[in-house]
Amino acid sequence: MRETVKIFGKFLVTWWLKSIRSLRIYEHLNLINIIDMKKEFWLEKWQNNQTGFHKEFTHPLLVEFIDKLNLSAGDSVFVPLCGKTVDLLWLNQQGYRVIAVELSQLAVEQFFSENNLSFSKTQESGFAVFRYKNITIYQGDFFNLSKQQLKDVKAVYDRAALIALPDELVGQYVDKMREIVPKKAKELLITLEFIKKLGPLGPPFTTPDEKVKQLFSCYPSIELVQETDIISREPKFKELGCDYVYERVYLVEF
Ligand SMILES: C[S@@+](CC[C@H](N)C(=O)[O-])C[C@H]1O[C@@H](n2cnc3c(N)ncnc32)[C@H](O)[C@@H]1O
Repeated sequence: MRETVKIFGKFLVTWWLKSIRSLRIYEHLNLINIIDMKKEFWLEKWQNNQTGFHKEFTHPLLVEFIDKLNLSAGDSVFVPLCGKTVDLLWLNQQGYRVIAVELSQLAVEQFFSENNLSFSKTQESGFAVFRYKNITIYQGDFFNLSKQQLKDVKAVYDRAALIALPDELVGQYVDKMREIVPKKAKELLITLEFIKKLGPLGPPFTTPDEKVKQLFSCYPSIELVQETDIISREPKFKELGCDYVYERVYLVEF
């Protein structure tokens, strides 16, 4: 009898371990699918010229709060999920080196052509690397960046990356950032909170204050610097049925 219980026990433990292992593999595969699906979404947006998030001017909050990053001339600033933002140029004009990452080749090419900048192009660790003076753009997937590529970074400027990512990915994004950005770096983070009553379920995704605080809970610190309702100057969000859009600026420490 004792022997039967022992054998049955062993069988149960083996079965349980196997299930956990296959569940992990399944979750991993599932995550890869989600990442690929979201990549397609953004590549199509660029192909179809649906880039309503792009601003023709330097973001006023970057100009207002850059001093919070305590940078010196020559320091490197990392700009994740950069699109074709002219903020890259502004940062460079202030004397900082810029390292950015963007999935879409079209976006990167448009950044250089629309600003009349010539560039060199090389290949590095699965990325196409576009360079103009002290601006380097890694064209490829943020999730493939390594610590080595960002080893000199002193600060991060993140506008509208969190609203680009669904819940399944946004936590991975924040964790990856902590893994690759050097300790003690500072980040200026700009997020939006809203409730869409119309339009598609996809991006932009809202990032309420509680969600941001929870996402960054394992970082040394995150401080809310400013909060403003910008609905009156955001007609696109009005079209989505939003009654408010809270734009928030945070200062994050790594
Ligand atoms: C909402 S837009 C923000 C662009 C930019 N930060 C700005 O202020 O204009 C999000 C951008 O992230 C890019 N993106 C999405 N997933 C990415 C990934 N996994 N790696 C790199 N870029 C990505 C998209 O192509 C898109 O240009």
